Amino acid sequence: MESIRNIVESTLVPHTAFENGLKRLEQCFSHAECAQEPICIAVIGESRTGKSRVIEECAESHPTVRGSEGLTIPILRVKTPSTPTIKGLAEAMLDAMQDPRAATGTEFQKTKRLKKLMAEAGTRMLMIDEFQHFYDRMSNKIMHRVADWLKIMVDETKVALVVAGLPSCRAVLHQNEQLAGRFFAPIVMPRFDWARREQREEFTAILEAFHESLRRHFQLPALDSDEMAFRCYCATGGLIGYLTKFLRQAVWNAMDAGTDQITFEDLRRAHEEAVLIEDGSGSVPSPFARDFPLESTERLLESIRTIGTRPELPPERTTRRRLGRRSVLETLSAS
Ligand SMILES: Nc1ncnc2c1ncn2[C@@H]1O[C@H](COP(=O)(O)OP(=O)(O)OP(=O)(O)O)[C@@H](O)[C@H]1O
Ligand SMILES: [Mg+2]
Repeated sequence: MESIRNIVESTLVPHTAFENGLKRLEQCFSHAECAQEPICIAVIGESRTGKSRVIEECAESHPTVRGSEGLTIPILRVKTPSTPTIKGLAEAMLDAMQDPRAATGTEFQKTKRLKKLMAEAGTRMLMIDEFQHFYDRMSNKIMHRVADWLKIMVDETKVALVVAGLPSCRAVLHQNEQLAGRFFAPIVMPRFDWARREQREEFTAILEAFHESLRRHFQLPALDSDEMAFRCYCATGGLIGYLTKFLRQAVWNAMDAGTDQITFEDLRRAHEEAVLIEDGSGSVPSPFARDFPLESTERLLESIRTIGTRPELPPERTTRRRLGRRSVLETLSAS
């Protein structure tokens, strides 16, 4: 029963961007030990594109092991505190290193303890998720002290650094030249775009993978048929995180109703409960309504691409103006 409830979460789809990202992370990990130069890489993408999932997957391949000599923690993975301070970040890192006194000590003491623990545990890679919190969009401020601390930490411990975050985190790297210089071209996790053939095919293949998993337990319409794939695209904006969210809802609803049938109408309801309302786009007809226009006009696609973007955030215009030129990461990735 439990495994059916988690069927969507436990399906990992090795789509191209995911596999490429994972490979690059693995490469950084395996060369971290003997690298002369620091290895730093960013995983960047819109919300719900799978950034956390790809770094998690890499971290899970190199798990913590408790041996007679103590703990080995090859990859230290933390989330940036929402208002990052050196003390707060060091505490999160100590906590992930399983230090029972993670909260105690001054900034200096915590840093010292952290370096010692990382050396003892053979830590080779540091992963920092939600890296955009290093940049405060509201005030346009970068947490420079924490960024500098991080740079020194990485230099001294010689671990590879992986940061993952929303596109706004490019600003952090851009405005900290020393940090930027250490970074490779980023791993970009995409939102799939229906208008581009290869991305449409990739998205359809993802649907096929979920359909394969679900049909072992449920009878449901083929998600990867041309028509359903388009409806699913319009329902999720090409974001894998919205797809999993609405499919999970469909599974829960079917389980609660004690049925192994997921009908077209059930998908409509699940989507409404999981995505539509949250997105506030209730005025658009449901992609699972019978009268939903199945024609991919530019106007429709344009509005679908806004799914999952948060209108309440201030426009990025201010940021662009301040940054002026292309960010270092953009320049690096263009080469
Ligand atoms: N390759 C994949 N196969 C299956 N599920 C995936 C895959 N990538 C992401 N997901 C699922 O999509 C959801 C969103 O992914 P994730 O949390 O990694 O996105 P994110 O980019 O980190 O989002 P946020 O910016 O909001 O933190 C999760 O439930 C995750 O398990
Ligand atoms: Mg995430």
